[in-house]
Amino acid sequence: MNNEIKPPLWILLELTHKCPLECAYCYNQLDFAKTKDAMSKEDWFRVMEQAREMGAVQLGISGGEPLLNKDVVEIVKKANDLKFYTNLITSGVGAPKGVVAKLKVAGLKTVQLGVQSHDKDTMTLITNNKNSYDEKIAFAKEVKDAGLQLIVNTCITRQNIHQVGEIIEFAEKLGANYLEIANIQYYGWALKNVNALLPSQEQISVARAVTNHYRNERKDMKVFFVVPDYFATRPKACMNGLGTTFLTINPDGIALPCNTANTLPLEFPNVKEFSVEEIWNESESFNYFRGDKWMKEPCRTCDEKEKDFGGCRCQAYALTGDMNATDPVCIKSPNHGIINKKIEDSVIHSDDKIIYRNRLNSLNLSNS
Ligand code: FES
Repeated sequence: MNNEIKPPLWILLELTHKCPLECAYCYNQLDFAKTKDAMSKEDWFRVMEQAREMGAVQLGISGGEPLLNKDVVEIVKKANDLKFYTNLITSGVGAPKGVVAKLKVAGLKTVQLGVQSHDKDTMTLITNNKNSYDEKIAFAKEVKDAGLQLIVNTCITRQNIHQVGEIIEFAEKLGANYLEIANIQYYGWALKNVNALLPSQEQISVARAVTNHYRNERKDMKVFFVVPDYFATRPKACMNGLGTTFLTINPDGIALPCNTANTLPLEFPNVKEFSVEEIWNESESFNYFRGDKWMKEPCRTCDEKEKDFGGCRCQAYALTGDMNATDPVCIKSPNHGIINKKIEDSVIHSDDKIIYRNRLNSLNLSNS
């Protein structure tokens, strides 16, 4: 093993990209409908064993909706046998009856449940699924009854940003141990829908103030607030730098250094052809963004490059067409005007229709 490369700590298994919800900010790639569920249970087991052997400790099980994979309980059990700390990231919709109790017995530790609103109409508007509200409430109850830790994750857009106070109260009623109020980041489906989704800076300031107020009032539930990077002056250290910490496996077996890296013009390897160690240590695409050789100015000579690694590579590529460019979110970027223009356009075209994340739209977009 190459000693200079640290092993992945966090591995995310995307068991399927099928999902009963159609959220317009989904991070799955626009052409997700073309991704086949090609990994057998044995393939997932092998990946977990190899990653654990390298030193990975945290395992996320996600999708799409991972509970649609019939082997999910066995996969969680295997993860537990390997002594991973396992987190299920779910919509809570369309789950097979009784699956939560089975997952608990299999060794699951934490459930991260997406809850878009305290209000049924808003939930339906965001998810485009009229059953989502009732099913999520029932699911949260099952999680608490099973004695599992519940993390509620609320993705924030213009459709629900005014409800932050009510959402905090709602999450508390659901028994959440943690609430993540996550302003979405704009790539994938969210970038396609930016005009319909992006709140104003003022709305974000109000939501943050409301969150701080509640945070001081409530001691039993931890509340986190994630700021959207369009209103930041410096980029986020996306994935802590690609190829340093995080490994995602797609339903077709493609390994990625971040959830959306398959939007980059790089060839990513498949775990059906290579071991996790070969992929992590030796593949060209995983080595590409390690170190700073790939960086251009102003990143290359920036004294913050060790802190933010030039920002998000997927965002840089999506907005500038150059994956080596400084993330345009940074005010030092020569392309920072692109972000300002996106913000301005989202005001002018705020009544643009939402393009929901579904199979038909995915096929149309990938063929257009
Ligand atoms: Fe891929 Fe940020 S989402 S590097």
